[in-house]
Amino acid sequence: KARTVLLATEKAFAADAVAKIQAAFDESKYTMKKLENYKSKDELLAAVADVDAMIIRSDIVDAAVLEKAAKLKIVVRAGAGYDNIDLKACEAKSITAMNTPGQNANAVAELVFGMMLTSARNNYDGTSGFELVGRSIAFYGYGAVARAVGKLAAGFGMVLYAYDPYIPKDAIKKMGAEPVDTVADLFKHQYVSLHVPLTPETKESINKELLLKMPKGGTLINTARMEVVHEAQMLEVLKERPDFCYLCDVGFKAQEEAKAIVGDKYMKRVIFTKKKMGAQTVEANNNAGIAAANQIVGFFEKGETKFSLKA
Ligand code: 3PG
Repeated sequence: KARTVLLATEKAFAADAVAKIQAAFDESKYTMKKLENYKSKDELLAAVADVDAMIIRSDIVDAAVLEKAAKLKIVVRAGAGYDNIDLKACEAKSITAMNTPGQNANAVAELVFGMMLTSARNNYDGTSGFELVGRSIAFYGYGAVARAVGKLAAGFGMVLYAYDPYIPKDAIKKMGAEPVDTVADLFKHQYVSLHVPLTPETKESINKELLLKMPKGGTLINTARMEVVHEAQMLEVLKERPDFCYLCDVGFKAQEEAKAIVGDKYMKRVIFTKKKMGAQTVEANNNAGIAAANQIVGFFEKGETKFSLKA
């Protein structure tokens, strides 16, 4: 049966990855429509009208989008986090939703180290910074991304800790980190790196009380989701603790306020990327994009439902 797939990416994939996704669909004789770098939701609403499947990134797929997508059977989030998909609305319309876990992990891990090194070396301003060897890093969530960061951290000679309520402690240990008992215990360590999904439980859970527990030079790294951190309280911590650093790839609404607080220590005490850049490498685009294409073909041709998400 002829299928039409929409590649809807407000933040476009590398051209190389788009060509590979196209090739995967060509092979199955599927038609691929592209909506890249679009600027308004109306463009998305118009584009979904005649498609059987969609590949998205952080693009919002809510009830309004699904309403217009009369033929849609499956939406695949080329990436890990799926807080941008209204799973209940999908379920109500019997639309399958999937993600492609793990495909972005190394890209995010390398970005974490880029930010850590930039901060530790004072944004290369000529003054003495410090080395990462022997320092401790604690992971909130120990899934694919955290473990990829952990692998690099071990290579740097850092000491690893992790808290993940969904992974048994002995498994965490086997994967190279010392398990800790509570979220608060993570904040005894110099670096805390967030790798949890955005859920009602994690939303604004990283607050002043936790951040003030961090030792001297305490640094929070956020490559998870903006909303996991309590922004107003983050600003207070930046004001109260001149040693504290926040390295963030996932957006911060009060960026100008934060930059004003840290002044010429921007890129040392606070780093904000221009757009969420963690998954923005040609390799991650290839991995996640091709996985998404294969999952769509597998779903239609073989009824495969691995990686399908539950509301
Ligand atoms: C993910 O959850 O996979 C990352 O946040 C990547 O998001 P992006 O595709 O919007 O870059």
